[in-house]
Amino acid sequence: MKEKLDGIKLAALALIENAVSTAELNDVRVKYLGKSGEISLVMRDMANVPKEERPAMGKLVNELRSVVENALNEKNAILAIKEEEQKFKEEEIDVTLSATGKRLGNLHPLTLIRRELIDIFLSMGFSVDEGPEIESDLYNFQLLNIPKDHPSRDMQDTFYINDNILLRTQTSAMQARIMTNQQPPIRVVVPGKVYRSDDDASHSPIFNQFEGLAIDRHITMGDLQGCLQTFAQKIFSSDTKVRLRPSYFPFTEPSVEVDVTCAMCHGKGCRVCKGTGWVEILGAGIVNPAVLEMCGIDSNEYSGFAFGFGIDRIAMIKYGIPNIKMLYENDVRFLKQFN
Ligand code: PHE
Repeated sequence: MKEKLDGIKLAALALIENAVSTAELNDVRVKYLGKSGEISLVMRDMANVPKEERPAMGKLVNELRSVVENALNEKNAILAIKEEEQKFKEEEIDVTLSATGKRLGNLHPLTLIRRELIDIFLSMGFSVDEGPEIESDLYNFQLLNIPKDHPSRDMQDTFYINDNILLRTQTSAMQARIMTNQQPPIRVVVPGKVYRSDDDASHSPIFNQFEGLAIDRHITMGDLQGCLQTFAQKIFSSDTKVRLRPSYFPFTEPSVEVDVTCAMCHGKGCRVCKGTGWVEILGAGIVNPAVLEMCGIDSNEYSGFAFGFGIDRIAMIKYGIPNIKMLYENDVRFLKQFN
């Protein structure tokens, strides 16, 4: 019996010594101290030991049991620490690494330009108004001195919904709406979407216009020129020059087309201005007295100027954007450049 116990002790201590993980050690614990472990079985065998030897044997078995138990606990403590260290190492994170920054969105170039334009005209005493994109023929054309079947309707390819309802082709429709609702003095700008059946590198069927209207006593072409000069220098650069050329619009008389020195080359001539040093940016003029009268404003007492331009075109000139479609494709590689 004594030899048997010594054998168990040696074997158990060797297994404990060689165990490399707490899991393996637990197997050893079960093998010796588990319900049907070797030491437990020896305990159960005590019944077969002669009565007089039992106390001595019992003492030996108890000693064996505590030797094995202590060895298991000691080794377990060592392995547990090792395993914990290993785990920490595997889960280690380098807190000094720089974070992968979150990419924030940014405003669309058309929004940036629209806001800048609004700020410029607010600073000159204009207010801001908006109107419907689905418009009646009356405001879009008739009150602007463009009767049905007038040849000048060909200037704007219109999306008609029915004979009298259309998608507005120009923010000028708001001139008529404002003048029929409000007496002078009027100083208002109107940014908004407009629609024309037109589609190439510089025309999109949907685009954005910016309308200006000022009606008061004694308003002249000089006021228009000064206003546009200030606007052009603020939106482009302070050395921008403005040039007025005679033109025709049914709702202004006289009418002008307005050029500015190219924002890209400052008038030297480049790709954007096709070598001329000038780019056309808007149509304008003195509000046709016939329009004032149709809208209920006394043309003997009041006069005014109006202008209208494409926000898209301003953005294209200012940022050197070659194709208007880029403003509507929502390609992130394009848009993120305006951050
Ligand atoms: N509405 C005109 C257009 O779209 C521009 C314009 C506005 C011209 C105001 C004169 C006065 O072409």
